[in-house]
Amino acid sequence: MKLIVAIFREEKLSETLEALFRAEVRGLTVTHVQGHGGEIEPVETYRGMTVRMELNDKVRLEIGVSEHFVDATVQAILSAARTGEVGDGKIFVLPVEKIYRIRTGEEDTAAVTPVT
Ligand SMILES: Nc1ncnc2c1ncn2[C@@H]1O[C@H](COP(=O)(O)OP(=O)(O)OP(=O)(O)O)[C@@H](O)[C@H]1O
Ligand SMILES: [Mg+2]
Repeated sequence: MKLIVAIFREEKLSETLEALFRAEVRGLTVTHVQGHGGEIEPVETYRGMTVRMELNDKVRLEIGVSEHFVDATVQAILSAARTGEVGDGKIFVLPVEKIYRIRTGEEDTAAVTPVT
């Protein structure tokens, strides 16, 4: 099991959600965040030129998946969230020790398999 954390452009959110739906990915969490991705903004001050660490609005998607869904989830985000310009964001794939579905007490893969 993995927790896929993707941080990317807000304007790519709906396209990415559509791509994930097509990939049959169901449970996810969206948070609006601010981040820094290396881009620096020169700022004039009385002490001369300095730089400011720029913060940009991004979305953070968290998706808990079984191994079977890892590649499809990553590929859906890679293709839907990309513009090709700097600042497209990152995807982190984290190992997950345990997942529980609170309602049923189901664990691990069963806990992230959608109930139809
Ligand atoms: N190493 C990191 N750790 C945590 N969050 C990061 C990291 N790198 C980028 N982010 C998040 O992703 C957002 C977009 O980053 P960004 O796309 O600029 O990364 P990058 O590696 O500089 O890629 P690019 O070359 O396309 O700019 C940042 O605003 C930040 O929220
Ligand atoms: Mg960057």
